[in-house]
Amino acid sequence: MNKDTQKRIRITDTTLRDAHQSLWATRMRTDDILQIAETIDAAGYYSLECWGGATFDVCMRFLRENPWERLRQIKAVCKKTPLQMLLRGQNLLGYKHYPDDIVDRFVALACENGMDIFRVFDALNDPRNLEKAIASVKKYGGHAQGTISYTTSPVHTVENYVKLAKEQEAMGIDSLAIKDMAGILTPGAARELVGALVKALPEMPIQVHSHMTSGMAAAMYLAAVEAGAGCVDCAISTMSSFSSQPPCESMVTILESEGYDTGLDQEKLAKINAYFRELKATRQPASTAKVEPVDAGVLVHAIPGGMISNLRSQLAQQGALDRLPEVLAELPKTRADMGYPPLVTPTSQIVGVQSVLNVLAGKRYAMITDETKHYAAGYYGRTPAPIEKKLAKKLQGGLKPITCRPADLLKPGLAAAAREIPAKLVQAEEDILSYCLFPEVALGYFKWRAQPEDARDPIPADVEMQKTAAAASADGAQVSPDDAKFVAIGKAFAALMATCTGGSGVPPLQTDALQSGETPLLPGGASKIGETPLPPAEPKDAAPKGTPVLAPLNGTFYRSAGPGKPELAADGANVKAGDAVCIVEAMKLFNPIKATASGKITFIAKHGAAVAKGDTIAVIA
Ligand code: CO
Repeated sequence: MNKDTQKRIRITDTTLRDAHQSLWATRMRTDDILQIAETIDAAGYYSLECWGGATFDVCMRFLRENPWERLRQIKAVCKKTPLQMLLRGQNLLGYKHYPDDIVDRFVALACENGMDIFRVFDALNDPRNLEKAIASVKKYGGHAQGTISYTTSPVHTVENYVKLAKEQEAMGIDSLAIKDMAGILTPGAARELVGALVKALPEMPIQVHSHMTSGMAAAMYLAAVEAGAGCVDCAISTMSSFSSQPPCESMVTILESEGYDTGLDQEKLAKINAYFRELKATRQPASTAKVEPVDAGVLVHAIPGGMISNLRSQLAQQGALDRLPEVLAELPKTRADMGYPPLVTPTSQIVGVQSVLNVLAGKRYAMITDETKHYAAGYYGRTPAPIEKKLAKKLQGGLKPITCRPADLLKPGLAAAAREIPAKLVQAEEDILSYCLFPEVALGYFKWRAQPEDARDPIPADVEMQKTAAAASADGAQVSPDDAKFVAIGKAFAALMATCTGGSGVPPLQTDALQSGETPLLPGGASKIGETPLPPAEPKDAAPKGTPVLAPLNGTFYRSAGPGKPELAADGANVKAGDAVCIVEAMKLFNPIKATASGKITFIAKHGAAVAKGDTIAVIA
């Protein structure tokens, strides 16, 4: 094909964000990036995805780095290629909705520090969760990329996706991404979807993002490009494939063989790849090295691989690993009941845990998590399909449903956050935003940073690498990135509920102790997720007569809903049937346990003790 008539297809490099988040538990460091940044900048990429997603949290929590400083340093070197980030709409980089003032200021500072392109998405594709972030990006001169979070269901039709794209066009987006986070978009479906989008929004540049999880992404990209997509996301080959993006070098060759021009320099790509191939030895955590190259199961059940490993570990904790096939069969039904949410954080965890409970409890929705209640009541946003009326009422568990944009219920939060941080720990306004997003993590980092260099604790990621090198076979106690996300959700809701009107009376999830590793509440000494070195429950024969209250799951027994919270019921108090009287924490959720009768309650289990399913934890007489 003549050079003049060749169509330019742009490639975004995800090596510095999604690729290492998918393959190395986000453990790439700023110094690692800076050593190769100049070559990457010169290679001819459309943009460099290098910030957002999990990088912000991991920078502070595991690498003891200031994420804002990372952005400035990359920008100082990469002067030619626009920088790109992933932004979870009203959730920014966290797991809850933030008030508008925080969203606005975060975006302003990101722009000021060098961010160019913001890919703004929402797990539920609720445009109301996108509008503020998109407006702020436009206001501060950034490129706002709208997003379709891709999934399949009876309501996720091409027509509905086009409608969603048009809603975002009306918000002023500069381009549109199709985000196929699970790697389930087939070439045929991509051709149809991109074709329809190009027809409905002829001026809108379309970019496609996928993962190689199921092995389809490179073929799908080609189909999308043929249908009119102008840009695709790739990672340098050594950082590609598995659950990461398709390999850049291969994609360039595929596209060029079809007469497209990518403008990328293969020699520079080879140099970049050599660099990361060498880096891999010191940066890839051992726990992530055993992944299968292709997870063909995704093609059958469309459940992302990471989600299945979470389900497996939740079932293992309950001594019910043999029930995985039942859970896999239950999950699509629970998802359908809940209005077909795309399975991406945080909805993947909500649907996953609820499905596990539906199987273990022996009766569907006999136990409903607080997350499910909030989801069904509209606190995450609008569900893609409405939940059937009677079921919705049950799932809401007494929570008052909302129909407004969830963030409309939030009071401005920036000034209050600024007052909460000890002034001596704050070096710049950006620290306040870091604190708004990840309060405990940011404070931990600020305190570490405030120490003289020789008095600082070792960097957690270094300790972790030494540990995994020493005991590569040990597992179980390792917290996967998904687990960390999951724990954060609980905290998010406690915070959301604290600022919302019309509270539920349901004790909010309290996972601060789990998240920070501190254990103000846990006399048994369970200090880390996955560890339960707790004393056994009291002998069962000591139980007085009366109606027993039984533990519904294996877990940890608590009298209160969190550190510093009052007991839900005093020992010997008169309780009413249906009152929440104590908590059994299982699968990182604080499940309120209801009184089985009215009368005087006597607790059998000790606060902080491990309980097994069916143990008598209290008696009501
Ligand atoms: Co991705």
